[in-house]
Order: sequence, then C-alpha cells, then structure tokens
Amino acid sequence: MFLLLLLPGTWIALAWAFATPDPAAGSLLAGAVASATDAMPVTKALHEIGLWAVRLLLLTLAVTPLRRIAAWPGFVQYRRMIGVTAFAYVGIHFCLYIVQQNFRIGFVASEIVQRIYLTIGFIALLGLAMLALTSTDGMLRRLGGRRWQLLHYLVYPLIVLGLWHFFLQSKINVTEPVLMSGLFIWLMLYRLAYRWNGARTLAWWHLVALAGVAAALTMVGEWAWYETMTTLGGERLLAANFTLASGMRPTWWVLLAGLAIVLLQLAADRWWGRARVRNQRRSADRASIA
Ligand code: HEM
Repeated sequence: MFLLLLLPGTWIALAWAFATPDPAAGSLLAGAVASATDAMPVTKALHEIGLWAVRLLLLTLAVTPLRRIAAWPGFVQYRRMIGVTAFAYVGIHFCLYIVQQNFRIGFVASEIVQRIYLTIGFIALLGLAMLALTSTDGMLRRLGGRRWQLLHYLVYPLIVLGLWHFFLQSKINVTEPVLMSGLFIWLMLYRLAYRWNGARTLAWWHLVALAGVAAALTMVGEWAWYETMTTLGGERLLAANFTLASGMRPTWWVLLAGLAIVLLQLAADRWWGRARVRNQRRSADRASIA
C-alpha cells in the first residue's frame, strides 16, 4: 500500500529530474523517461503534486465509508498511512514552490502574507503538519483517545482550506476543484447520514439518495462559484450540465461515483455472503471512530 501511495510522487520526481528541453540531448535513459512522461518543468511538478495531495486527502476520508460499505474492517489500518503520505505530498508541493521561486525565502514569505490563496494553503499545511506529527502511537497514548480524536477532526476544515486554495488558484476554469469538492461533499454527507442512522451501516437506497444530493449540491456549488466569482455567469455552466458539448461535467462524475458505491455495497452483500457481511459491518461500525 505504501509503495502504491509513493508511485505518483516517484513518477513526477522522475519526470522532473529527467526533464530536458530536447530528450535527444540527454542520456538515453533521460531521453526515454522525458519523452514518456512529457518533460516536466518545476511548475508542472508543483501542480501535479498539488493535485495528488488533494486526491490523497480525499482518499484518507474515504477509508471509513469504504471499510463499512465493502465490509472490510482491516482497511482502517491504512488510514493514518494515507493521511501522513497526503501531508508529505503537501510538504513537497510547498518545497517545489520554494524551488520555483529560486529559494528566495524572504520573497516566498512575503507572497504567503500578501496572496490570499497562498495564505490559505499555508494555514492548511501547518494544520496538516500538526496532525501528521500527532499521528504516532506514542502521541495517541499521550493525548488519550478522546482528545486525539477531537484534534484529528480538524482534518475536515483543513481539507476545506486546501480545496479553497485549489479554487482560488484555478482562476477561470474550476472544473477540477468542483469535482474534488463534490466528492468531499459526498464524504461529509455520508458521515452525517451514518450518524443520523444511529451509527449503523446505510441501506443501498440511502446511498442512492446520498449520490443524488451530493451531485445536486455540486451543481449548485459550481453555479454559485461562476455566478459570484467570475463574469461568465452561473447560468451558462448550469446549462452545460445538460449537454455533452463540453464533456461530462463534475456533477455527473459525482453522481456516478456515488452510484458506484451503491454497486459496491450490493456486490459486497451478494458475493461476500450476507451473514459474513453483516458481522463484518457490525465490527466495522464498532471500530468506527470517525
Ligand atoms: C493543504 C495544502 C495545499 C493543497 C491541498 C494544495 C493543492 C494545490 C492544487 C491542487 C493546486 C492546483 C494544481 C493544478 O491546477 O493542476 C495548487 C496550486 C498551487 N499551490 Fe498549492 N496546495 C496546498 C498548499 C500550498 C502552499 C502552502 C503553497 C505555498 C505557499 C502552495 C502553492 C501553490 C502554487 C504556487 C500553486 C500554483 C498556482 C499557479 O500556478 O497559479 N500550495 N495547490
């Protein structure tokens, strides 16, 4: 699992390290890697790592619903590992920004103070650093389960800050941050619905409703962003959701992802065997802390 999480970062590092304007001019290996990976200057590496940081942060939040829905309690052992790796990606993203600015630390500091999207990103980075540092078994024991849990609830507002940073730096095209926010909305709605259901695994029709509500909120959120933050107007974007002219919009991806989860639950029920699934869900429910 850990190696799998390192794969995107390693690929980006290789692409960046071997980047050369003319692949033929470097060594044979450099040329091969550079042409395979579309030679990557520092700005591109900064963007790619930022994207993977968001993906991994969302994956951290997906562990709890996935282990309940797929009746796989053991999946929880990976949550801290994924979370800490997500933080490492954010840290590398920050370091790449310093490299991009030619190590002018004073300038970087003044940009963080002056540019609101950097200030927001930096606050998220500091918060995630605190969560990563307190993720050891020793810190868990020292803080006590309850206090540790309360502290780690901070991950939700910190991811909101990360997404906000993503929106603000995206300028005119916010397709990708809208998609990530839609998935985040599903993950939060799932947690609310689970509590509302008395901390019991949700039925498949609850999950269908969740997929619909998350998709609808994604559409409204996208409309609100374009309406208030751009001169494009939200109505055009709203209309784009009902044609395929500009490809499939984030709303539909969020709906599809939500429906895929319903299928996963149905498949777990059918193939894992009902009795076993019920027992595993019960132990996943009991093991739940978030
Ligand atoms: C939780 C913290 C953070 C997350 C999740 C995050 C994520 C992202 C993402 C997803 C992008 C856009 C990638 C793309 O469009 O392809 C981005 C861009 C960027 N981020 Fe971050 N970031 C974080 C913190 C920071 C910090 C602390 C800094 C530096 C102080 C920073 C500097 C930048 C810069 C300079 C860009 C590119 C802006 C541009 O090209 O106009 N980020 N970030």
